[in-house]
Amino acid sequence: MCGIIGYTGPLEAKRILLEGLSGLEYRGYDSAGIAFFDTDSQIRLVRQVGKVEALKEACGRIAADSHCGIGHTRWATHGGVTAENAHPHQAGRVTLIHNGIIENYHQLTEEYHLAEKLCSQTDSEVAAWVLDALYEGDPLDAVRQLTKKLEGTYGFCILFADRPGEIYAVRRISPLVASYTHSGALIASDLTALLPYTQKYFVVPEQSIVRLTPYKVQAYDQETFEKLQPEIMRVNWNMDAAMKNGFPHFMLKEIHEQPEAMKNTVLPRLSKGLPDFSDDRIPDALFAECSQIHVIACGTAMHAGMVAKSIMEPLLRIPVTVTIASEFRYQQPLIDSSTLAIVISQSGETIDTLAAMELAEDLGAKTLSIVNVKGSTIARESQYVLYTHAGPEIAVASTKAYTVQLAALYMIACRMALVRGIYSREEAAAFFGEFLDVIPAMEAMLQKQEEMKAVVSHLIQSPDAFFIGRGLDYAFSLEGALKLKEISYIHAEAYAAGELKHGTIALISENVPVIAIATQDRIFSKAMSNVREVKARGAFVILLTREGAPVDKSLADVHITIPPVRDIFTVFPIAVALQLIAYYASVGKNLDVDQPRNLAKSVTVE
Ligand code: F6R
Repeated sequence: MCGIIGYTGPLEAKRILLEGLSGLEYRGYDSAGIAFFDTDSQIRLVRQVGKVEALKEACGRIAADSHCGIGHTRWATHGGVTAENAHPHQAGRVTLIHNGIIENYHQLTEEYHLAEKLCSQTDSEVAAWVLDALYEGDPLDAVRQLTKKLEGTYGFCILFADRPGEIYAVRRISPLVASYTHSGALIASDLTALLPYTQKYFVVPEQSIVRLTPYKVQAYDQETFEKLQPEIMRVNWNMDAAMKNGFPHFMLKEIHEQPEAMKNTVLPRLSKGLPDFSDDRIPDALFAECSQIHVIACGTAMHAGMVAKSIMEPLLRIPVTVTIASEFRYQQPLIDSSTLAIVISQSGETIDTLAAMELAEDLGAKTLSIVNVKGSTIARESQYVLYTHAGPEIAVASTKAYTVQLAALYMIACRMALVRGIYSREEAAAFFGEFLDVIPAMEAMLQKQEEMKAVVSHLIQSPDAFFIGRGLDYAFSLEGALKLKEISYIHAEAYAAGELKHGTIALISENVPVIAIATQDRIFSKAMSNVREVKARGAFVILLTREGAPVDKSLADVHITIPPVRDIFTVFPIAVALQLIAYYASVGKNLDVDQPRNLAKSVTVE
């Protein structure tokens, strides 16, 4: 989950590392540090608790020039938030940064008699001391031996005191990407850190060790030390995509980018008005031959899966199971060779999702991932990948990634209905024609943001909020509640509206905010009965319906309408409305919208 950057080359390394860390801060923001070779080829270390700004201030006091160094933003796993636990860690001749978890660090501490030497409580420092013990002047050999000792996951960048100008890197599961540019050699946990310098990169292959010098980046096979030629990839994002561009927060910018992201994801895959995955090399047989679907994901991506279930099951008439990835692994899931596992992940690096996907594949499922970050582990390791084209998502709270994941799922649903003979070509084209109306509907909701802003003055007075809905509206509510709680810290829960009476309604009292979503014609009157029940108990009701819905005005304290798209597509404008409500609630409480407490963007630890 931590952010990693390394640089060696002609430019001033400290500046590159600090700028890189600012861009990577969404990966972790409890502390940060850098280590670099100074002009005397001595390694200097600066670590600071808090955000990268604090580290920048501390580094500002250091005059030393530098052309090679490594930097890290931390999301604590082992040990509290202290300068000693911040990376880089130094052990004898070794200085390193680490992303991941070393599971056998206790055993290694004993085996190498490290208890007296350790200055921190981290597993990473243990790895540094082990590497120092193994180092006899050949970095490749020492790193190879280290990897044989370690259990767990890691992405390491390492400086050896007697190798100025060189950085060594190795990874297992935790992501690392590297590039050689005219300005020197770079390595990072995320592509966004490379974007100011290059759009070309390669994913550090597992089973390799990478050496960065000012003139070259070279990957070596971990066993034979033969030179490897990893595939060079090109990202189509540019720096603008990773900047706020006049918006006060990344989250607001990303909410506004959704119509464009939808177009980028959907339009290139339309052929004669139908979804077509030929360019993604996803064969129709994958959709024709499966007898059940398992959706595997975490958090917001899992909520996209919940919507997919509500769409796919009635349309395709096959079982669609949605499982939280961290639970999937321990549930002995019923999977066979006729199972299609759809694995959803913005980052493509979420470790629980990755592990669940590997299990599904071991059990015989075909795996199709829906991923935003090109070349990420899940994308590479799934049998088929459908990339979403949302561009970089920097705010920790996911917004545009969610709606493009949904777009991909709706496209799959439509294609499956076609290839399974449920839809004729005309019916599939009609479905998709109506689907495209969601893009202007999302644009229309963005125009209404003042309405969402107005709602929050009441919302932020309350410690709790409830989201209710039935059917598809319930699936949307789950995401609305998550968005609100993660960035406004208001305790928010989503309930199937009909379930309230079975317990939860005890929590509804005078002025408690209830966000009621009622966009489904078939169950509209039932949903309104549930709204009536909470209203009768004094709730402050924020009601979201389609324009023209027959609403009894006395039930809603605030009534927000979305354009009248077909009921199975209402999630798109509703998502925009709920995201804006959460955003303005966070702003209204003066919180850190883009980097909420305790969270990090990419969850690469279990
Ligand atoms: C919430 C959020 C998280 C992620 C989850 C999965 O706003 O962003 O719940 O959706 O951590 O992340 P990915 O999609 O990268 O696998």
